Amino acid sequence: PVIYAITPTYTRTVQKAELTRLANTFRQVPNFHWIVVEDSYTITDLVSSFLSTSGVQHTHLHVSTLLRYKRPRQPRGTEQRNAALRSLRLLRSRNDSGVVFFADDDNTYSLELFEEMRSTRRVSVWPVGLTGGRLYERPLVEKGRVVGWYTGWEAGRLFPIDMAGFAINLQVLLENPQAVFKRQGSKPGMQETDFLKQITRMEDLEPKASNCTRVLVWHTRTEKVNLGNEPKKQLDSVVIEV
Ligand code: UGA
Ligand code: MN
Repeated sequence: PVIYAITPTYTRTVQKAELTRLANTFRQVPNFHWIVVEDSYTITDLVSSFLSTSGVQHTHLHVSTLLRYKRPRQPRGTEQRNAALRSLRLLRSRNDSGVVFFADDDNTYSLELFEEMRSTRRVSVWPVGLTGGRLYERPLVEKGRVVGWYTGWEAGRLFPIDMAGFAINLQVLLENPQAVFKRQGSKPGMQETDFLKQITRMEDLEPKASNCTRVLVWHTRTEKVNLGNEPKKQLDSVVIEV
């Protein structure tokens, strides 16, 4: 199966650096398709030219988050992930074999993760490092089945798991065309659980990464860059894209 990785991304000082780190990983994954969805009114030149030389098979989309949702404590990447799901549902059919994964642009992905998720029959799960205020969060597994969760945050959630902690067989998304990311009533941190409950039950989850005992993805977050010494007017004689 092809792995479809869906990445919402937005314009900011670290964007090209983040995308470069991702491309350096994804380029090494066989049978991989990157769906990059910009949070913008149009696709940008920076991302277009980046993707065209990235060496990664890709689809480039855009959808702008409404200004009223561009606030702290609002879910991020919601409309972007839904745009990617819409495109997959339009362009893929019962004959296509694929696994869909949500790959935020700031996380860190091991190559092994992709080989683990490739065998996803319905919905698979695994640990995520550096999240939930803990070194890791993970599904608890007994006799090959998920029976609960080791989580540091909002343990009452039905699926207390980060976006980077699961993958879905493409056919499950085609069979459940109504399953989308919800904004209404969805606080940050509730998107994953609100989405997963539309397509699966805990007892049906497929544990990966040695029964969820290995961390193969990290919820890293990039520090905001200090631009305190940027000159007020252009001092360099050429314009450099960063
Ligand atoms: C956590 C989860 O890991 C995210 O998957 C989830 O979307 C997010 O919470 C949430 O609260 O909605 P966090 O590191 O806080 O992650 O979120 P970001 O990495 O800042 O954003 C998630 C994705 O959305 C990133 O790929 C980012 O580039 C994108 N994004 C963020 C946009 O497209 N537009 C924005 O305005 C902000
Ligand atoms: Mn993040």
